[in-house]
Amino acid sequence: MKNSTVLITGGAGFIGSHLVEALLAAGYRVVNLDLLTYAGNLDNLANVEGHEPYTFVRGNIGDQDLVGALLAEHRPATIFNLAAESHVDRSIDDATDFIDTNVGAVQRLLDTSLKHWRSLAGAEKESFRFIQMSTDETYGSIATGEFTEDSPYEPNSPYAASKAAGDHFVRAYRVTYGLPTLIARASNTYGPRQYPEKLIPHMIVCALGGRPLPVYGQGLNVRDWMFVTDLVRGLACVVDAGLPGETYNFAGGEEWKNIDTVRSLCAHLDRCVPAAQSYAATITYVTDRPGHDLRYAMSADKVGRVFGWKPQVSFAAGLPLTIDWYLANTTWRQSILDTGYQGTRIGLRAS
Ligand SMILES: NC(=O)c1ccc[n+]([C@@H]2O[C@H](COP(=O)([O-])OP(=O)(O)OC[C@H]3O[C@@H](n4cnc5c(N)ncnc54)[C@H](O)[C@@H]3O)[C@@H](O)[C@H]2O)c1
Repeated sequence: MKNSTVLITGGAGFIGSHLVEALLAAGYRVVNLDLLTYAGNLDNLANVEGHEPYTFVRGNIGDQDLVGALLAEHRPATIFNLAAESHVDRSIDDATDFIDTNVGAVQRLLDTSLKHWRSLAGAEKESFRFIQMSTDETYGSIATGEFTEDSPYEPNSPYAASKAAGDHFVRAYRVTYGLPTLIARASNTYGPRQYPEKLIPHMIVCALGGRPLPVYGQGLNVRDWMFVTDLVRGLACVVDAGLPGETYNFAGGEEWKNIDTVRSLCAHLDRCVPAAQSYAATITYVTDRPGHDLRYAMSADKVGRVFGWKPQVSFAAGLPLTIDWYLANTTWRQSILDTGYQGTRIGLRAS
């Protein structure tokens, strides 16, 4: 379905901006609808701005007049919803925005998409897809083994609960109304342009600012890391050939305890920007995040079978690449620090 149009929502964020680039490179026309919340950044799209088949629109996925008009004008073959409130710590502080965006606005986006889909006919109606971006966190924590696409939902944080609720609406709109929806789900994704509230960029920004590196609990929580270009290669497969009713889980297969991730990051910074003492000496254990999931793990067997997908960038290669990007992109970093960014780790709250 190359040459067709994809409406990406949340395309000014971390994963979305990489997906916009990847789909344009693959020959799709892309319309990017993003509200530009604190997490959205047009600098993320500097590489694609001005590209002929690319259009940026600032707006809310829940704005039914705006989205309805966009669908009528651009007639996308695919809607890929990545727009979300995405940070667990913020959801613990206050879940309201998470329910508004990840549930309420998703339901309104589904409704607008349904009206549009019903107005289509023939091949255009047949090939239309609504893809929802989801997270391994909807399954909750797993002590041993791996979740699969058939595992039950057991979200533990308000963020995960809001994403799970969004997924349920996506499923319900297919079962109830026939809207051709599907779900793509990712494990912890990292790479250039991730907003620095998330673990890896947060540690980089703290280290470069001469601040302690706050690690929750004893740092024993395990995350499965996937480099962002690996994920978007998989998401492009879903755009190309994903089927309604299916769920596709993408996982990096790189399980690391948080403390080991932070120590590796410190070792690379020690080599690139040595300070008076090793950055690891500034690791500070802070009060654990409430309800902190110990381990996430998903199998990527299905996407291997269906799309021939497997990750290509090891954590040992991707982590230094990511750190080097943050070191090189001082303007990007500074633009976020200029907004007064101090980090939102629960254990670091002044109050
Ligand atoms: N980053 C990860 O590790 C990860 C892992 C699994 C799944 N996900 C999911 O992938 C998606 C993208 O994650 P990310 O890390 O790139 O997030 P992000 O926070 O970097 O970007 C979110 C984007 O959505 C936009 N947005 C927020 N509310 C909006 C609204 N109402 N209307 C339009 N735009 C809105 C923001 O401006 C921002 O550009 C999310 O759905 C997230 O739940 C992320």
